[in-house]
Amino acid sequence: MLNKEKALKKLEKYGQEHLLRFYDEISMEEQRELLNQIEETDFSVLLNALGKEDDKDHEISPIKAMQLKEISENKDRFYRKGMDALNSGKLGAVLLAGGMGTRLGSDAPKGMFDIGKTKSVYIFQRLIENLMDVTDNLRSPVQLFVMTSEKNHRDTVSFFKQHGYFGYPQTSIHFFKQDMVPSTDDDGKVYLESPCRIATSPNGNGGWFSSLENAGLIELMDREGIEWLNVFAVDNVLQRIADPLFLGAVLDGGFYSGSKVIRKNAPDEKVGVMCLKDGHPSIVEYYELDEDMMNEKDENGDRAYNFGVILNYLFSVDELKKISGMNMPLHIVEKKIAHINDEGQYVEPKEPNGHKYEKLVLDMVEMFPNCLPFEVEREKEFAPIKNRSGVDSVDSARELLEKNGYEL
Ligand code: UTP
Repeated sequence: MLNKEKALKKLEKYGQEHLLRFYDEISMEEQRELLNQIEETDFSVLLNALGKEDDKDHEISPIKAMQLKEISENKDRFYRKGMDALNSGKLGAVLLAGGMGTRLGSDAPKGMFDIGKTKSVYIFQRLIENLMDVTDNLRSPVQLFVMTSEKNHRDTVSFFKQHGYFGYPQTSIHFFKQDMVPSTDDDGKVYLESPCRIATSPNGNGGWFSSLENAGLIELMDREGIEWLNVFAVDNVLQRIADPLFLGAVLDGGFYSGSKVIRKNAPDEKVGVMCLKDGHPSIVEYYELDEDMMNEKDENGDRAYNFGVILNYLFSVDELKKISGMNMPLHIVEKKIAHINDEGQYVEPKEPNGHKYEKLVLDMVEMFPNCLPFEVEREKEFAPIKNRSGVDSVDSARELLEKNGYEL
């Protein structure tokens, strides 16, 4: 283990020596805790983090999505292919639930949020029931991998247990933790969250495959014969998981990955959009779309950049293994970061006061040889819960669930 001098040397290399400023005032046990965390933390990742300006030099052009009409015309074939693969146990599902859900403003994991009105309907419950709509008709359940973080792992696991895994077979659910990264102020100085603890946050939803590998779950996937992973977010309570049509269409077209997309409801809707970047499938963030691109039309007079991603992807496991270990960009995200100030007082900011560093699953699409953008009806499959009220909120999701016949 590091001693104070060695820790200081490591910190000096990255300009982070202030992390030891309370060292002489804390107990020996706390000193050990801090030294331990300094030893384990990889500060070099912060040096390679990207700003939003990264994409300026790339050539962005529209991509064709497989649209509802085409899907409907080929429905039977896609369904058969998808169900065959599902019945052979070729698909696993990965629930990304390691986020902090700060916009929702609850301390508990987002999936524990109760969106019911007259009865309890937890977000996790809705997702598991969505998945069971499919698995109830299969010969064996889909293996479900649930990504948590150091911050919410214990609460998440005990919540599932307490609720009997919402009826899903316990032996088919595998929890794993994602890695953490230090959080900094605007000048890149790492915050302390207590005199003996560096402020850290989960390393973004793009860290999921390396975290699965670190958790030793790849062997299990190989043993189970899983060839595809359906990766999805915790907050879209209407999404279809392990969707046979989506899987069937990706298999039918010989694709290595697929992304569910929805038609945007306005040119400036704040969703990432599928596109070609330097001729390769990619996702352009909403803030990277300029006015001209937002309004550009295709040959049919439809908006050229019209298909937004909803964080529901299919990835081939063989391809994931090939790209594993490749560097993914670390994005800088402005967030509110609770910390202790120079006087040792705990501060909970009301406005963003620094940076978290995240890998994003959307960056993976670009690493694949190809990707099928697969259109779904937004009213039926897109009800994200990001905020308490307003756009993409508990209120809007409840309304959409009720429109789709769910009792809350
Ligand atoms: P968001 O980008 O909405 O982030 O996550 P968030 O942390 O949940 O919420 P805010 O921004 O703090 O309000 C999209 C999906 O990615 C997962 C989330 O749990 C959600 O399913 N995620 C995000 C992770 O699994 N790990 C992360 O580090 C970040």
